[in-house]
Amino acid sequence: MIPLAIPNMAGNEARYLAECVATNFVSTVGPFVGRFEEHVASASGARGAVATSCGTTGLHVALVALGVRRDDLVIVPSFTFIATANAVAHAGATPWLLDVHPDTWTLDPQRLGDALDLETVRGADGKLVHVRTGRRVSAIVVVHTFGTPADMDEVAAVAQAHGLPLLSDAAAALGAEYKGRPIGRLGADLTMFSFNGNKTVTAGGGGAVAGDDEELLGRVRHLSTTARVGANYDHDEVGFNYRMTNLQAAVGCAQMELLDRFVRRKREIRRAYDEGLAGIDTVGPFPVPDWAESACWFSGFVTDPETADRVRAALNDEGIDARPTWKPMHLQSPYADAPRSDVSVSDRIWRRIVTLPCSTGITDDELAAVVGAVRRTLPQ
Ligand SMILES: Cc1ncc(COP(=O)(O)O)c(C=O)c1O
Repeated sequence: MIPLAIPNMAGNEARYLAECVATNFVSTVGPFVGRFEEHVASASGARGAVATSCGTTGLHVALVALGVRRDDLVIVPSFTFIATANAVAHAGATPWLLDVHPDTWTLDPQRLGDALDLETVRGADGKLVHVRTGRRVSAIVVVHTFGTPADMDEVAAVAQAHGLPLLSDAAAALGAEYKGRPIGRLGADLTMFSFNGNKTVTAGGGGAVAGDDEELLGRVRHLSTTARVGANYDHDEVGFNYRMTNLQAAVGCAQMELLDRFVRRKREIRRAYDEGLAGIDTVGPFPVPDWAESACWFSGFVTDPETADRVRAALNDEGIDARPTWKPMHLQSPYADAPRSDVSVSDRIWRRIVTLPCSTGITDDELAAVVGAVRRTLPQ
């Protein structure tokens, strides 16, 4: 089987893990956690970072730190992985589902601005209220889909105009750039990265929340460490046990040393599929807007839904792990009643996307085999 996206333990992982065992620093205290946070801050261009147990917990604690409270609405693109919406629900809030742009698959800033202008009012107490539900709108989450940055200048301008905090779900976007700027420096208040096993670099599981505002990052750190004050079981609010362990961070540090090489390989994989499938009428590439230097986490192609199903089945029969992509949030049971604006683009695109094997350890021969298999199943 040629797998979809598996870890690539090509560096100092075993050595750093052995150090953890030898020193007995295997839990949330230990030198690798701080080192990992420095790696993430430096690679993302942010001033600092806080390591978390996974990306979902990173999003959750970030939302709470940004002031999201029970019964609020938080704007989320419908086309995302369910963790983005789940983090909002974990914070006691409800996602308000908006659409993505058809050419970028990321939050459409025009629709975002329109939704806020037309569907909210500013209450006498200064709260931004969603008219249909009467709920406070307290934040925007923008997702950098498959490692491709959203149009952040526009999204950040809308967030600022409406006085809303902006959280970047950059789960798979470490290494990406927008107009030449790194992904952690694009105007979001906080930026979350995932180090799940299927990401370009992994900590076995893990996340990080990066940002420039030291007070805000301090709040993320405090909340994710049970809101403990001092060493003696004093806690000043309801916190979380969301910190990364030294074991995870040891793997994470070894992987961060390989980030540039792995992102380069992800881009080569994208190019191999784009070039290998070029010229087939029924197939198009994943979008890369002209502002983006994508981290190319996932690669594949776009076609009509029936062909997508057929090609995936044929590739699976040949031992190639081709998959569908995220079913949008408005079609997911937990969010069936979540408020939404027009989500027709999300509705249309998700069935058309086929993701192809893109592990950083994939060989050129395997890439050629995947391209050959796709070509054989498609009308030329
Ligand atoms: C867009 C997006 N957001 C959030 C997450 C959640 O990250 P984690 O799996 O580390 O909790 C993922 C992970 O796959 C993701 O793709």
